[in-house]
Amino acid sequence: MEVVILPDAARIGAMAADAIEALLKRKPDAVLGLATGSSPLPIYDELARRHVENGLDFSRAHGFALDEYVGLPVGHRESYREVIRREFSDRVNIDPRNVHSPNGAAEDILAACEEYERAIKSAGGVDLQILGVGTDGHIGFNEPGSSLASRTRIKTLIEQTRKDNARFFSSIEEVPHHVVTQGLGTIMDARHVVLVATGAQKAQAVRDFVEGPVSAICAASVLQLHPHATVLIDEAAASSL
Ligand code: GLP
Repeated sequence: MEVVILPDAARIGAMAADAIEALLKRKPDAVLGLATGSSPLPIYDELARRHVENGLDFSRAHGFALDEYVGLPVGHRESYREVIRREFSDRVNIDPRNVHSPNGAAEDILAACEEYERAIKSAGGVDLQILGVGTDGHIGFNEPGSSLASRTRIKTLIEQTRKDNARFFSSIEEVPHHVVTQGLGTIMDARHVVLVATGAQKAQAVRDFVEGPVSAICAASVLQLHPHATVLIDEAAASSL
């Protein structure tokens, strides 16, 4: 695991965008793993800027979202499908048909999860997976206790994660209890993983997953076993290392 400490979120976004730009130049039909939350937003801002100003081309790229809420109506502003569309897909020239999200509204969630795994595989697997990290060390929505070998499945959010994410909704009651998320095994299949985190509220999680034992209690710690994991953090997030 390579840990890089950078001065601020903009610099982190630029370094992650550098990796994505280099990938797209090498492999124009690359498969990108897309994350939500506030941490990846500077990456999407930077990619959109490079697309507009320098013609960075996403026309042959594919995208797969990490996770999705269960129970939000299709088109809900805070569904991750909509967030990815708003923050990323609509701002670059990626073909919307090539951008996929887990289907949190499926009648048969189990079948939808299996289908999602198949779709990732048939696209050739994820080349570069963007990740944030939750305050409890979750990646995607793999809460503490997630199997290190897990695949895409339904999960129940812990109360802290619902509280953390309540800022995107008008009240905590609106935050769904259930989600569909790529598993830790799914995430580990990505060829390169780039995790970004900023702020003192992430310091404990960063310390646990970078320096602690590999354990299902801290889902992100599985990345210690990944052959190509890059962790981009600011001084505050690095303050407990
Ligand atoms: C959510 C997402 C995660 C994200 C986490 C942290 O739980 N499912 O993918 O990493 O939030 O979000 P933020 O970057 O806003 O702190």
